[in-house]
Parts: sequence; C-alpha cells; structure tokens
Amino acid sequence: MHIDPLEKKWLYVALGMVVLFLGSIFLSLALGIKPPSNVETIDSARLHLSEEFAEDNLGVHIQPDGSIKVIMVAGRYGFFPRHITIPADTPITFRWASIDVLHGVHMPMTNMSTMVVPGYVSEVTTTFPKPGDYPMLCNEYCGLGHDYMWSKVTVVAKQTWEREHASKGGES
Ligand code: CUA
Repeated sequence: MHIDPLEKKWLYVALGMVVLFLGSIFLSLALGIKPPSNVETIDSARLHLSEEFAEDNLGVHIQPDGSIKVIMVAGRYGFFPRHITIPADTPITFRWASIDVLHGVHMPMTNMSTMVVPGYVSEVTTTFPKPGDYPMLCNEYCGLGHDYMWSKVTVVAKQTWEREHASKGGES
C-alpha cells in the first residue's frame, strides 16, 4: 500500500500527540497532580453566624508559629476590613469568603490573586518581599460599583512589625 510521505509525517504527528496526552495523564496520576481546587464550602448568607468569618474575627491574626493568617470577606463593594497591615518576608495565608456575588481579588505587582466564589472559601498563601502600600482590587465584574471596589494593604518591613508586636507583647 502506498502512503504519501507527507501523509506519513502527519500520521506520526497525530500518533505522537496521542502518546503525549496519554503520557501526561499517566504521569499526573502517578505523581498525584490535581487541579488547584479548594472544595471548602461555606454558607454565604450566614457568614456573620460562622465563627471564622464573623465580623469580630475579620483581619490579621498572628499564629503561634509567627506566620500570619488574614480573614477577609468580599462584598459589594469592598474587601473587609478596608485596610490591613501585614509584615514583609513572612508567609501570609489569606482566607476569603464572599457575602454576595462572585468577586476577584487582585493585588497588582504581587502574586496575590484569586477568585472569591460565593459558597466557597478561597485560600491563598503568599509572601510580600517589598514593603509599601498596595491596592487590593476586584477583577471580576460584580455590579455597578465594581470599578470602585478596592481596599488597601500596608506591608511593613519585618523588623518594624516584630518591634511593634514585641513591645505590645511586653505591655500586656
Ligand atoms: Cu467585586 Cu467586581
């Protein structure tokens, strides 16, 4: 049987792709690679009744090991609390919930970015190397006030943070 050389070439390309796709499936199964899906659910309408996302609990929490946990909610039109202060060069874990619709949190010039889907908790851990004031913007259209949906994050140098929190600890 005669096969045109060009056709043969494409046959190999097609076969190569099949091998590549199957190979990547097996590889991901073997290495346990999964898409980054967070399946922690929460009732958006009852956030104020939840322990973690109750109003009193929002904001920056210093963990016993020195790492930082930030609990925030996104709602039309802002991220609450509206202004937080966190240290540079420290792992910061953000935990997000929406009180209404889909929002997107984005801090330009950093890698802090996630969608906040109603009904789910979004978690992002990151480190900010550079102190400064950063805007926290919404990047998913969420209504008429979307363009004005932003809050402020102040990143202070690690030494400043440690000095302030050490002196506070000494007072109490
Ligand atoms: Cu919130 Cu756009």
